[in-house]
Amino acid sequence: MARPFASAHRLDVFEQEIAQFDAFQSVTQSTERIYQITPTHKQRVPYYTNEFWTSRQRQANPLHEISYRACFKPQLPGFFIDRLTLAGDVVLDPFMGRGTTPLEAALRDRIPYGSDVNPLSRYLLWPRLRPPQFDQVRHRLDSILWRHHGAIPEELLVFYHPETLRHICALKTYLEGRDQEGKLDEVDDWIRMVALNRLTGHSSGFFSVYSMPPNQAVSVASQRRINARRQQVPPARDVPGILLRKTKSLLRQSGIEGSARLKKLAAQARLMVARADYIPEVQDESVSLVVTSPPFLDVVDYAADNWLRCWFLGIQSEQLAITRPHRLEAWRQQMTSVLSELRRVMKAGGVVAMEVGEVRKGRVDLEETVIASAIESGLHVRMVMVQQQSFTKTARCWGVTNNRGGTNSQRIVLLSK
Ligand SMILES: C[S@@+](CC[C@H](N)C(=O)[O-])C[C@H]1O[C@@H](n2cnc3c(N)ncnc32)[C@H](O)[C@@H]1O
Repeated sequence: MARPFASAHRLDVFEQEIAQFDAFQSVTQSTERIYQITPTHKQRVPYYTNEFWTSRQRQANPLHEISYRACFKPQLPGFFIDRLTLAGDVVLDPFMGRGTTPLEAALRDRIPYGSDVNPLSRYLLWPRLRPPQFDQVRHRLDSILWRHHGAIPEELLVFYHPETLRHICALKTYLEGRDQEGKLDEVDDWIRMVALNRLTGHSSGFFSVYSMPPNQAVSVASQRRINARRQQVPPARDVPGILLRKTKSLLRQSGIEGSARLKKLAAQARLMVARADYIPEVQDESVSLVVTSPPFLDVVDYAADNWLRCWFLGIQSEQLAITRPHRLEAWRQQMTSVLSELRRVMKAGGVVAMEVGEVRKGRVDLEETVIASAIESGLHVRMVMVQQQSFTKTARCWGVTNNRGGTNSQRIVLLSK
């Protein structure tokens, strides 16, 4: 019989801890807001503001260190996983992106479930749940035939030296061949994941000449302009060397034992390519905690940003069914159907921690919309946590408004079933 999830009490204890939280010197400010949900329904919501997790904390596992637009720091899911679940519980993110929540869950001995409408997410996360050993990667890279005799996509020469582009094409052909023969293994999956993260970037650690990172790849025309402005020509890069260096860095805390532990959890993982409001692969009442961050209206264009990664994978980026509602009402409807689906898969007493940012210079209050959607879908609204933190470059580039005094805030709406 399933262990009852005693979260009603756990959430009370959690709320007390949050109200008294002072781990990073500042004390929590507590307040409340009253939301008029319908003409007859008012909802009181406690607000707790503090720095609940911080860059001063112990660094997260380096396995997280791949880039994805609007990803959150591993400390965010870590905070909730630690306090609201036990080892062996299922933790889900239905908008998983690079997979920060499921990876952090697995690193903390929870069963990772994740889903995203973008198939890229699975390619990014699955290999990091089954990390190979460094020497396996080195041997595999040595065994690849780095000559490419076929045609190369000439338009990509704005990013790459011809020899580098041939090496990238050789790797793409090798991976496609292994896939067709049904021989792709965890080492190949790993190499593909690392390559996806080295396609373009600012430094010699990437395959391209100076460009934007691979999660925000610019168009060919923009790269042509960047090259002209910087008077640059793509230099030759050592593709296997770059892959090996990034592998070393990602694996620097994953010993044989750590990898084996992760693989055990990976065997129970469920990773899906699906819309967040329809995840039939997840059983009713199976999930203890959801930590997630939906797209904030249409702030980020995930399909356009990932076009080069999609090329490498042979996916048509414009066919990705990534919804980008521009209007708040459409976003509200989407959130209501997502939260209804989450209510189905959650255990009684399970918790959703949904992170929303401030968009459109704070004129749009997304947490108010999440609160209305939660009530509509039958979830209880427990509190809003406002995470005050020092200003980060990432936050700035994804359109989250910074508050006064060089800080920015993330809002996490806590809901329970
Ligand atoms: C804010 S990002 C999540 C980032 C994630 N927290 C991380 O740390 O990487 C939102 C994600 O939602 C995905 N997405 C957009 N619309 C979706 C939908 N209808 N269903 C599922 N995923 C969707 C996007 O592809 C993107 O990966």
